[in-house]
Amino acid sequence: MEGPIQWHSGYSVGVQVIDEQHQHMIEIINTLFRELEATTTEIDLSQFFKDAVNYGEYHFQTEETFFSRFDYPEKNLHLSLHQAYKKNLNSLLLKEGDSHLRSRELLTFLEDWWIEHITGIDQTLGKLPESVQKETA
Ligand SMILES: [Fe+2]
Ligand SMILES: [Fe+2]
Repeated sequence: MEGPIQWHSGYSVGVQVIDEQHQHMIEIINTLFRELEATTTEIDLSQFFKDAVNYGEYHFQTEETFFSRFDYPEKNLHLSLHQAYKKNLNSLLLKEGDSHLRSRELLTFLEDWWIEHITGIDQTLGKLPESVQKETA
């Protein structure tokens, strides 16, 4: 899959603050896609890596706060998936080579990882108590 991602209700995890952050992450991914389409010269990937790492980290911390506040049965699995994201991203960051090839690789990774994660384990967060679901940032 490669291209702008449209957030839709099928991606909702049932917790407002988390949905909003997912929308922001999707916007970061779509920005990389547009940059890649528009640029034929070298692409400076450092900002995209920074956003993917930093916003990812910020977002994981938000989700992980919910894990500890509630008796969340998927906690360990979910934590290990967040760790794996950071590890995968780090090995992509260390790769060398043509910036367009690396951008494509980063884009494919981000698209696949976030969509699979949002529609998979993140949706188990919607099973937390109803009071959580209306929380905002
Ligand atoms: Fe998430
Ligand atoms: Fe998550």
